[in-house]
Amino acid sequence: MKNEDLKDKFSGKFIVLDGPDGCGKSTQAKLLAEWLKKQDVPEVSFRDPGDTAIGEKIRQILLSPEYNAMSTRTELLLYMASRAQLWAEKIAPALKANKCVVLDRWLSSTCAYQGYAGGFGMDKVIKIATDCLERVWPDLTIILDVDLQTASQRLDRQLDRMEQKGDGYHQKVREGFLQLAKQQQNFLLIDATGDIETVNKKVLEIIEKTHKNLSITSLKELEKQAIIEALEKTNGNREKAAKILGIGERTIYRKIKEYNL
Ligand code: TMP
Repeated sequence: MKNEDLKDKFSGKFIVLDGPDGCGKSTQAKLLAEWLKKQDVPEVSFRDPGDTAIGEKIRQILLSPEYNAMSTRTELLLYMASRAQLWAEKIAPALKANKCVVLDRWLSSTCAYQGYAGGFGMDKVIKIATDCLERVWPDLTIILDVDLQTASQRLDRQLDRMEQKGDGYHQKVREGFLQLAKQQQNFLLIDATGDIETVNKKVLEIIEKTHKNLSITSLKELEKQAIIEALEKTNGNREKAAKILGIGERTIYRKIKEYNL
């Protein structure tokens, strides 16, 4: 695709990378931003929570193990407050200036963490977001899925308050993201258990192949076509097809069922 076409496709678009702790989304968001820059697409990246003076203060409170007493409702409102500020100060002006905005986390995280794992309810989180955010959903959300074991190997450092919540909580966070990816439009799930380059390749493949409006209908179609092709190439061998696609065997079984293949 020519740079002019890419510029046209991504200008003024809002793209989010999200997923459980240790899924590698910050690295992938950075690589995506670098790729967009190389293609001459005007781009800005932010992290949620944070990236405003208010947001960084809220982030410190949210992540400090000092505030272990914090309830799920308080978490939810603080994440939402930081996000509202980030939108007003940074995201809205950037989109207005026709830049492509890449976000490291967004409302999808509040749904998975506070809504699903915290038990507040994903629907209720979305309802609150609808009332207090100017923009609820991005043009495209890429969820990087990773199992608990791989994720915890990657988190080889001092854990923050959210990361310290334990395996049961984080397993639910993953389930929340999986459920959200199934329910919401313009969400796409990527198996992020591979190394940085493999996952980056998958992200860029999807980004490049999306249609101008970044519609998920076309993304789903793309994914389905890729599975059909891989199955044809391997004479229907699901394990080999999964290898070609760089996804796990469980994922290909799930997708085959989902697409009635
Ligand atoms: P980060 O380390 O990926 O920047 O995210 C900070 C932590 O906050 C991470 O553990 C996920 C958590 N989080 C929520 O619980 N709810 C949210 O809405 C967001 C954005 C992050």
